[in-house]
Amino acid sequence: MTPLLRLVDVSKSFGATRALRGVSIDIFPGEIHCIIGENGAGKSTLGRICGGFVRPDTGSFWYDGNEVPFFSPEEARAAGLAMVFQELSLAPDLSIQDNLFLGAEPTRNPLRVLRRSKERLDCRSVLDAVGLGRIDIRQPVGQLPPGQQQLVEISKALARKPKILVLDEPSAMLSLAERKHLHGIMAELRANGTAIVFVTHHVSEVAELADRVTVLRNGALVESIAGRQTVDQIVERLGGGGMPAPHRPQRQLVQHADNATADLLSFVVPRLDGSTEAIRIAPGEVVGLYGVIGCGSERIASIVSGQASDAASVALEVEGQKIAVNTPVRARKLGIGHLPNGRASNGILPTRSISENLYLRPRSRNQRVTLAPTGGDPDKELSEIGVRYGNAKDLITSLSGGNQQKVLIGRLLGSDLRLLVLEEPTAGIDIAAKADVHNLLRKCTGKGWGILLVSSDLDEAIALSDRIHTMFDGQCVRTYSAPTTGDMSSISADVVGATHAKDREEVL
Ligand SMILES: Nc1ncnc2c1ncn2[C@@H]1O[C@H](COP(=O)(O)OP(=O)(O)OP(=O)(O)O)[C@@H](O)[C@H]1O
Ligand SMILES: [Mg+2]
Repeated sequence: MTPLLRLVDVSKSFGATRALRGVSIDIFPGEIHCIIGENGAGKSTLGRICGGFVRPDTGSFWYDGNEVPFFSPEEARAAGLAMVFQELSLAPDLSIQDNLFLGAEPTRNPLRVLRRSKERLDCRSVLDAVGLGRIDIRQPVGQLPPGQQQLVEISKALARKPKILVLDEPSAMLSLAERKHLHGIMAELRANGTAIVFVTHHVSEVAELADRVTVLRNGALVESIAGRQTVDQIVERLGGGGMPAPHRPQRQLVQHADNATADLLSFVVPRLDGSTEAIRIAPGEVVGLYGVIGCGSERIASIVSGQASDAASVALEVEGQKIAVNTPVRARKLGIGHLPNGRASNGILPTRSISENLYLRPRSRNQRVTLAPTGGDPDKELSEIGVRYGNAKDLITSLSGGNQQKVLIGRLLGSDLRLLVLEEPTAGIDIAAKADVHNLLRKCTGKGWGILLVSSDLDEAIALSDRIHTMFDGQCVRTYSAPTTGDMSSISADVVGATHAKDREEVL
């Protein structure tokens, strides 16, 4: 079979960084071709070359059996290529509908009204495909939670009916159920002959979906293998220290002599069975909130971190005191730090350097955040969190996605805090670095910090949490103390409402 796309001996450097070194790859119609490798290995660069967004220094390029110049973005689009970028590329102030057809209006019909109604129809069908059928298409994209923004981005690519679809970590911000939905869409596209280039750090997705796996390391091709691979084979091919074991090491809770009984944070949420659940975080504890997007955990994370406009709707107690955390500044003064979901729109200052982004934190709780140099040692901190970078003075946007996320984590860990609210802390982080991040978080709990963890990665939630509260429809379903992998199926059932439905049947 002729490859639809063929890259031969492609190299690309950014300044002193050699992002790709002589990589060759074939993309066939009707295959899901997974690209895997550690953070900074060159995966996104490869995807962007296919989409015409990065021009390689050397190498040749073939489309449908013919050698052609490397694509520009317009040529890529004309050839039937659609891209979902690692960082969202939507216009936050425009409506969902306008975003979907930005730069790709369906017809040049002078009767704009007709065009809009055709757009609306097309809009509905692509949103339906990703499970957003009931969403109001007139609302600005920026008002959606990151997971739904990601789904809009995916529908935008699907609306083009692509021959080649490049998905760069599309699932990093999706919940398990949404990820499954996406897998279904991918399988359908594959059956219709679409070629899919799929970049992901989720080895389980690779094992489930890949017809071919290409492994990159340090910008070079390690191998390109056809056929299904098991999780173990993939982990071995990644060549790292293996997958972090989903286990919870025994840990001693930190007792503060002066205030031994006070929880760092407590609040009450309604339970599905009509009662209430007290959620408490003691010093040294990790408490996980687990559920699908829209289950209410993101809302709790934004209330605790002072981001929510309805802050008063959940009564928080911080160290035993009733306190309204109504602004992010207030949260910081209380020692509450927040890692939001979706780094591109939250938290990163794209026009600033790596070191400025790392030090975007006050020296102590009561100081203001400034961009002034703090006299710290950025190289030491960056190497501690395993960031792959050239110079700390380079722009933060010169880092690969996973390495930007590590900088955000480093910013929090170096702050004067006692409670971390972490949303999807290791989204986009490779499996070896993930273990390092988990160890750093355990160091924080070791010194008495508490963590409220919102993660759609169940292995991670189980590995880190002392307790997991499952959430559905704004309510707590059940609480698992010292959860283990044995609780996985029960936890997964809770969050899709299965427990609720079963309990109701029992009552009836
Ligand atoms: N625009 C750019 N300017 C400077 N350096 C860049 C740029 N884009 C990528 N790089 C560098 O090229 C290398 C490869 O980056 P790339 O984004 O392709 O990695 P990746 O495999 O996608 O990693 P991740 O898993 O973290 O997304 C990295 O060292 C990165 O810092
Ligand atoms: Mg990337």
